[in-house]
Formats: sequence, structure tokens, C-alpha cells
Amino acid sequence: MKILVINGRPRAKGNSDLLCDEFIRGAEEAGNQVEKISLREKEISPCRACYACFRTGSCVQQDDMADLLQKAEEADMLVLASPTYFLTMSGQMKVMIDRLLPKWQDLGGKKAFVIVTGHDGRQGLRRTGEELCAILENLGCSVQNIIWGERVWQKGEVIGTKAMTEAYEAGRQLS
Ligand SMILES: Cc1cc2nc3c(=O)[nH]c(=O)nc-3n(C[C@H](O)[C@H](O)[C@H](O)COP(=O)(O)O)c2cc1C
Repeated sequence: MKILVINGRPRAKGNSDLLCDEFIRGAEEAGNQVEKISLREKEISPCRACYACFRTGSCVQQDDMADLLQKAEEADMLVLASPTYFLTMSGQMKVMIDRLLPKWQDLGGKKAFVIVTGHDGRQGLRRTGEELCAILENLGCSVQNIIWGERVWQKGEVIGTKAMTEAYEAGRQLS
């Protein structure tokens, strides 16, 4: 499978990156082709709600979203990863999701996976996971599972937790 991992973390080499990388390690070992996009390293402006994309199929803004949309369309599986910020996904992730508008009807039928981190337990991260799942399902994707990177705050705290094993195993099972 072609797998596109979209990571909404602003902080490099933190817990979200570590979980994504474990997932990718497993998925590559299982023979999948994986690409990771870190939104912080991309220039993606917020949707302007001009609706030009409804007429033309593409966005009037010339930034990195066009490339991301093409990769998302080509992928067999989409993985959305985000830290929890004030009980929901990161701003980078939400901005990217709004910019899916030109292709929102063309991204269905894919498998999907969600990775969530945060310093709270499962209850505090639940909204982030559920929102990302709901958005993927609204696009017509089928979410296989959620990796919960719970009770992690400082960089690297996720190392040695069961979420790391779960991320690797989830990737390893994909083909
Ligand atoms: C602005 C901000 C808001 C946050 N809000 C929450 C929150 O509501 N719930 C939570 O569990 N963690 C919260 N956190 C902690 C992060 O989710 C946690 O540190 C996570 O590991 C960050 O991901 P990273 O390690 O990939 O950077 C917040 C962190 C920041 C910077």
C-alpha cells in the first residue's frame, strides 16, 4: 500500500513524531511505501471560503497544499497524527483539514489510521481522536484504529510505553 502520514505536531522529534516513526518502521518492514509530511515544515494557509474550488477543482492559494492533496489522492491509506492542544487537534492539523475542500469528494474509499498524543489520560484525549476519526469517516475513509499516546508531555516520554509497541505492530500488520 501507499501510505501518507500527515503529522500535525509543531514540535519536531516529540512524542507524535516518535509514534509516527514506529508506525512507519512497522509499515515499511511489511512492504508498504510510506511518506510522512510534517505540517510545521509546510506552508499551508487557512481556507478563505471563496469556494472557487467548487468551480475549478483547485485552490486559488499557491502553497504546499496542492502537493499534499495530490499525495493524499494517490495514497491507499491516510494517517492523521496530532498532539492534543486545548482538548482538540493542533491548529496546523485543522488548517490542513479545511484545505481538503477542493478534493473532499475524491478522498473516499481509503483506509485510515489516527495517532493522538497528550499529557492527559484517554478521557482527555478522546475528543481529539474522535474528531479526527469523524473527519476521516466524513471523507469516506474507513478508520482502522487509533493509537493513544496518553500521559506524555516532554519530548521522548512516549518511549517505552505501550503506545510505541502498538504503533509498530499496527504498521507491521498492514499490507
Ligand atoms: C498549547 C498546548 C496545549 C496543550 N493542551 C493539551 C490538552 O488539552 N490536553 C493534553 O492532554 N495535552 C495538552 N498539551 C500537551 C501536548 O499534547 C503534549 O505535550 C504532546 O506530547 C505534544 O506532542 P509532541 O510531543 O509531539 O510535541 C498541550 C500542549 C500545548 C503546547
